Amino acid sequence: MTFTFVTLFSNLIEGYFGDSILKRAIEKGLLDIEYLNPRDYSKNKHLKVDDTAVGGGAGMVMNPQPLYDCLEDLQKKDEDVHIVFLTPVAKPFTQNDAKRLAKKSHVAFVSGRYEGIDERVIEKYADEVFSIGDYILTGGELASMVICDATARNVEGVLGNSESLEVESFETELLEAPSFSKPQTYEQISVPSEYLKGNHSKIRSLKFALSEAKTKFFRPEQLLKHKTRKSYEK
Ligand code: ADE
Repeated sequence: MTFTFVTLFSNLIEGYFGDSILKRAIEKGLLDIEYLNPRDYSKNKHLKVDDTAVGGGAGMVMNPQPLYDCLEDLQKKDEDVHIVFLTPVAKPFTQNDAKRLAKKSHVAFVSGRYEGIDERVIEKYADEVFSIGDYILTGGELASMVICDATARNVEGVLGNSESLEVESFETELLEAPSFSKPQTYEQISVPSEYLKGNHSKIRSLKFALSEAKTKFFRPEQLLKHKTRKSYEK
């Protein structure tokens, strides 16, 4: 699967792939990471890519021309490319989106800096627009890395151990049960004794109860969603 980052600041992103689980997947040829810089497409003699907002307002907005030409080029090279824009004015990205995007052959992320991107670019080229949460980042780069990471780990073979994808938070709306490593007792605190007894059906029941308790405490709306779905399935 190919990910293309359309950004003025590829250096913000490059380091991440040089040192992560994803590095191994790149070396194995499962993932390919590419970068496109809209500045390389600017027809302005000073290679400007942004300007003040028409109609007033604070900050600089990215101009349409460099992005139009850049994204036209991208689509010409691969007509299957799925173009994703990152902005706080969008639907929230979820685990279901990560799994869905992982089935695509090529996803491109377009990151805006400054006050954003000229809306005409989004209207013309966006297949999807995502926000990663209700807060404002200084640019879309971090958001694009979050979505790339969450998507890439769902690509077949990337994690190596496909089991780790099996019982994850959000797969059933519930948050995952707590995990423990060795030793069994550390600073006088033991892991739940049921985890040690080897009765897998009992361990599963306990994990489910802990999962529900965590979800009720941290994300009550998710628990409600889970219960509603279960009652529909009955
Ligand atoms: N750019 C700035 N803030 C963002 C957010 N919360 N999500 C996605 N892109 C953004």
